[in-house]
Amino acid sequence: MKRLTIPALRGRKVDGVTAEPIVVLTAYTARQAQLLDPHCDMLLVGDSLGQVIYGLPSSVPVTLEMMAAHGAAVVRGSYHSVVIIDMPFGSYEASPAQAFESASRLLKETGAAGVKLEGGAAMAETIAFLAARGIPVCGHVGLTPQAINMLGGYGPRGKDEAEAHKILEDARAVADAGCFAMVIEGVLEPVAAAITGAVPCPTIGIGASPRCDGQVLVTEDMLGLFERTPRFVKRYADIAATIGEAAADYAAEVRARSFPGDDQLYRSKK
Ligand code: KIV
Ligand code: NA
Repeated sequence: MKRLTIPALRGRKVDGVTAEPIVVLTAYTARQAQLLDPHCDMLLVGDSLGQVIYGLPSSVPVTLEMMAAHGAAVVRGSYHSVVIIDMPFGSYEASPAQAFESASRLLKETGAAGVKLEGGAAMAETIAFLAARGIPVCGHVGLTPQAINMLGGYGPRGKDEAEAHKILEDARAVADAGCFAMVIEGVLEPVAAAITGAVPCPTIGIGASPRCDGQVLVTEDMLGLFERTPRFVKRYADIAATIGEAAADYAAEVRARSFPGDDQLYRSKK
């Protein structure tokens, strides 16, 4: 199967209408990518791996090296989906040149098709700079978790008129700059609907209502594998319980000396 392309995904939205919603999940490892790939249009190597994989308190400490290592694993494990890698905090904000240096390194070291970066109008120049130099960029507006130290919490954004207006303006700015799609995170439904109606590129919502051109969830959240489950997450499985039960069974059998059993023994040839 040929891998989907960014122009093909961008082209799903025609004259403001996306007939086939864009399906996105996060992936951080090769095996996870392999299992998700046939069902998705895009796999996002999110910097949420900071919390989900590394137990960090936020995505702020995540490094370019972490994103490159996990990005390469996800590309190796997938054949069909477009793979996009989050640019980590501190790797792109200083200047368009810094962003190009970091983004080009991610693409060269992983084989991913594009990058995602957080921010609105302040990042428009950077998005245009990258796009003009061959690096497709996915925007990310609304709740931007890398700004946690400014925001003070992960609650929804755009609850008052002024903030809702600012988010819409940010979305227009990154769309005008040439992003091929944008994530809208943690906003009220009218804000998501206004953005989706206003920008030509597809919008991908998380905690942003069905009024988007696609949806993304953190895979561990929807598998029931992460402790924290925000309101916008639907649990499609309870993998944490499955793992706990398997570990308990194993521990009990080792303690009872019933594992390994006959079936797990190597035998001599004769
Ligand atoms: O890091 C991440 O997983 C993300 C998605 C939640 C959009 O940015
Ligand atoms: Na992210």
